[in-house]
Amino acid sequence: MTQANSRIITVYNHKGGVGKTLIAATLCFLAELNRIQTLAVAMDRQGDLIRWLTRGKTISRDDLYEISDYLLAVYSPNSYPGRLRYPLIVVDQSPAWEDAERVQPDLCIVPVDCIDAIINFMSAREWISISSSGVGVYFVLNNADVGGKRDLAFIKKTLARQRIVEVWDGNIPHSGVFRRAYNRKVPVWEASYAEQSTGPEEAILDLCSSILARVGFRVTKRPGLG
Ligand SMILES: Nc1ncnc2c1ncn2[C@@H]1O[C@H](COP(=O)(O)OP(=O)(O)O)[C@@H](O)[C@H]1O
Ligand SMILES: [Mg+2]
Repeated sequence: MTQANSRIITVYNHKGGVGKTLIAATLCFLAELNRIQTLAVAMDRQGDLIRWLTRGKTISRDDLYEISDYLLAVYSPNSYPGRLRYPLIVVDQSPAWEDAERVQPDLCIVPVDCIDAIINFMSAREWISISSSGVGVYFVLNNADVGGKRDLAFIKKTLARQRIVEVWDGNIPHSGVFRRAYNRKVPVWEASYAEQSTGPEEAILDLCSSILARVGFRVTKRPGLG
């Protein structure tokens, strides 16, 4: 079940509530759906990635949770279980950079909340450029439509001027679907009301499939979303 070469994706931001766990959980569920052997590591003390993946179980430190044949999760607050090898490892990072920098990822995803995107982007960029030489860094705009179209255009223009990191072309809109998925502990595609509103799910599935493609996994989105 394990193999020598792991592809490691981390989701990082020193700020809370920006969508780290949303992206990490969706990556894990999408990988599982595509039968990719995946290890989910919750380094964030909150442990809400594990609670989401286990559909609300009580969790304890360093425990392993076998979620399916393809998905294993470990709650390892503030430290990285370095010995574990898996084809795909998804890490919901600790907000503390000194913990986060112990992980050497292939790709570091940084969600930035649109509400204070510029300030958050600038500080995250500083932190990341100090310690992540050689690692792909991918900024993702979350809650993108909250400030309206003009704000969004301004933020995108500002981010595009930064050449140190990459910024995802698309964005994650603000959507009740994500909150429902989090509250119900289900994948985002199980949280929409019957046949309504596939836009937000499609956006995050596009993001997550492009992230997985970047580290070498070709995936298909769930049937019905193309
Ligand atoms: N685009 C969004 N639209 C609506 N709710 C969102 C969105 N992104 C995140 N949320 C909700 O905001 C809360 C914080 O998101 P979360 O992924 O837990 O952030 P973090 O892990 O960075 O603290 C959760 O309840 C989540 O469902
Ligand atoms: Mg979180």
